[in-house]
This record gives sequence, structure tokens and C-alpha cells, in this order.
Amino acid sequence: MVDRFEPDPAVMARAGALIRADRLVAFPTETVYGLGANALSATAVAALFAAKGRPANDPVIVHLADEAQLDLVATAVGPLARRLIEAFWPGPLTLVLPRADAVPAAVSAGLPSVAVRLPAHAVAQALIRAARVPIAAPSANLFSRPSATTAAHVVADLGDRVDLILDAGPAPIGLESTILAVTGARPRLLRPGGVPLEAIEALIGPVERAATATVDDEAAQLAPGLLSKHYSPRARLSLVIGEPAAARRRLRQELEELHRGRQRLGALLVNEDAEVVAGLPIVVGWLGSEQDLATVAERLFAAMREVDAAGVAVIGARSLGSTGLGLAILDRLTRAAAGRVIDLAGVREPES
Ligand code: TXA
Ligand code: MG
Repeated sequence: MVDRFEPDPAVMARAGALIRADRLVAFPTETVYGLGANALSATAVAALFAAKGRPANDPVIVHLADEAQLDLVATAVGPLARRLIEAFWPGPLTLVLPRADAVPAAVSAGLPSVAVRLPAHAVAQALIRAARVPIAAPSANLFSRPSATTAAHVVADLGDRVDLILDAGPAPIGLESTILAVTGARPRLLRPGGVPLEAIEALIGPVERAATATVDDEAAQLAPGLLSKHYSPRARLSLVIGEPAAARRRLRQELEELHRGRQRLGALLVNEDAEVVAGLPIVVGWLGSEQDLATVAERLFAAMREVDAAGVAVIGARSLGSTGLGLAILDRLTRAAAGRVIDLAGVREPES
């Protein structure tokens, strides 16, 4: 274990030296664990993609220790980007900017842009500082698995493919960063995440939204062929989107039907959803109260892994709104559901 607030300098020096030697170090950030490599080394970046089983056309985020490193990786940081940086760095906001030549094209899958963020976690900052180079890091899970929010998740997915894992306990936010493209004329949301869209729009005005599931389709690409054999078959996630009462009723109906079909079932639920599974033999990942989306976010990926590990065939879940962290939660659930979405929008509830 390394201390979450004051990591041992000797450990960090060793970790930094590994990064400089083109090796891979998994480390905690405030969002999720990252699998880090020297962002300025094409060799290290190639090793990173190989270890994760990540397709070369899926770009990764470059992490900085301080704002001064920004000019090393990005050109043309305009006034809009500066305002966002001022307000949200360090923190869970990733900005897509024009890429500087020092960053190998492979980091960005050949794109002329680069995604950059300054994590708010002391261990992440200490690692980047010790490495004395920016660190390219995707989430430290195997391709298509839920993101890793603990060191144990990293071990389960990447174990012997990583040279060092820095364990500082669970990642406090639990969902990945918000990604905003500021390369074009208008800012565009590429992925909702730890910084709520409302906070960004309060600062810079309306933000264009990219269609869901076009950018980060990791969770959406259920590719069982890529999973290691020791995992049980990946469960199908069935997501009901709608107002709480109606969504609960519909989810219960779905689960009862599947239960009659003798399927082994799981569910991801908030405390207020107890009636959904009452009397049914269902493995539930409890996410805390609907009133506390920060806790739901923190638990979501770990709960997904736990329920999946119980060997269920289907995992039921419902949406928790689309404001604040609800938008990022909905996004991750939708991708995990990969098409198995029951949207009750427009469906009238009969009076009861
Ligand atoms: O919170 C996070 O962002 C975590 C921690 C480790 O920092 N990282 C993370 O990385 O979630 P990853 O690789 O799982 O997701 C990065 C996303 C990808 O979906 C990728 O498509 C997008 O960032 N991305 C990276 N570079 C991009 C670029 N130049 N243009 C557009 N999207 C980009
Ligand atoms: Mg990821």
C-alpha cells in the first residue's frame, strides 16, 4: 500500500524509474486506476496497447503532473481551454487539444489531437513528477471489462502484464473523467464523467454532445473472445430507462420472466429498489441511495464485477436520471447493456 495523500518518495522514485525505462506502472487516480507508460516513448506506448489488448484505433489520455507540462504535449491552448483548466484542474476533466510533435502519433491513434488531463490524486501526481515525463494511461482493465477502481481489479485483469501496481485503496470517484473536445469552433462532450456537464456549461455556456457510444465503446464492445478464460461468461446487462416507479415495475417484470426461464440472475440496484428483487433469488450489487449518486458512481464498476463473478446470465439495472453524475452513470450502464435497453420514455403508465 502507498499512502493516498503522502506516498513514500522511495516507492515513487522506483515507480518513476520504471516509467522512464519504458515499463508499465498501474496507478490510482481520483477517477479509476490507470495503466501508465511514458507518453513520449513510442516503445512504451506500444507495450501499453499490447498489455491491455487495446485496438490501435482507440486513443489514450496523457496525464500531467502540473500545468507547465501542457506545452510539451499540446499546441494552441486557447482561451476556452485555459478557462476550463483554471476551473477544473487538477480533477476529472480531460481536454482534447491539438497534439504536439513530442507525443507519438500512436498515443492518439494517429489523430492530430491529444487528450490531456491533470489528475487530482496525490499518488498519480507524485508518479508523473518522479517519471519527469507525461504519462499515457488508459483505465487499467482488460479491453471490454469494467474499469478498475481497486488494485485488486488491476491484478485480476492485468496481473503479470504490469511491472508495478501502486495500491492506494479504492479510487474515490469511481467513474472516468469527463472528456471535452476543444479543438473545433464549439466545445463538444465526448464522454460524460466525473465533472458534471452542468458545471462545465455554467462556466462556458452550451456544449455540443457527441452521440452516445461513438467514442469510448469499450464497454459496448462485448467481445467474449478477448476475455481470459478464467472469467465466467460475461453476463448480459439489461437496462430499463425511465422514471423510478415505472422503471422499477418494468425491471421486476423482466426479472420475474427471466426467473421463470430458470436463468441465474443479478441486479445493480439502489437501496430504494428493494421491492424489485423481493422474494426472487437474485445476486444484487447494492449501490447505496439514489439520493447519493457520488456513492453510486464509486461503487458501480466494483459491483458490476462482483455480480458478474457470481456467474449470472443477466444483470438487471435501471437508469438514475441524467443530471449531475447521473449522466455518466447512465452512459456506462448503456454501454455495458450494449443494445439491451428498454426505454420507457413516451410509454404511458396505466393508472393504478
Ligand atoms: O478518468 C479517466 O479518464 C481514466 C484515468 C485513468 O485517467 N482514463 C480513461 O482512459 O478512462 P480510457 O483509455 O479508458 O478512455 C479514454 C478515452 C477513450 O475512449 C478515447 O477514445 C478517448 O479517451 N480519447 C483519447 N484520446 C482522444 C483523442 N485524441 N480524441 C478523442 N478521444 C480521445
Ligand atoms: Mg477505459
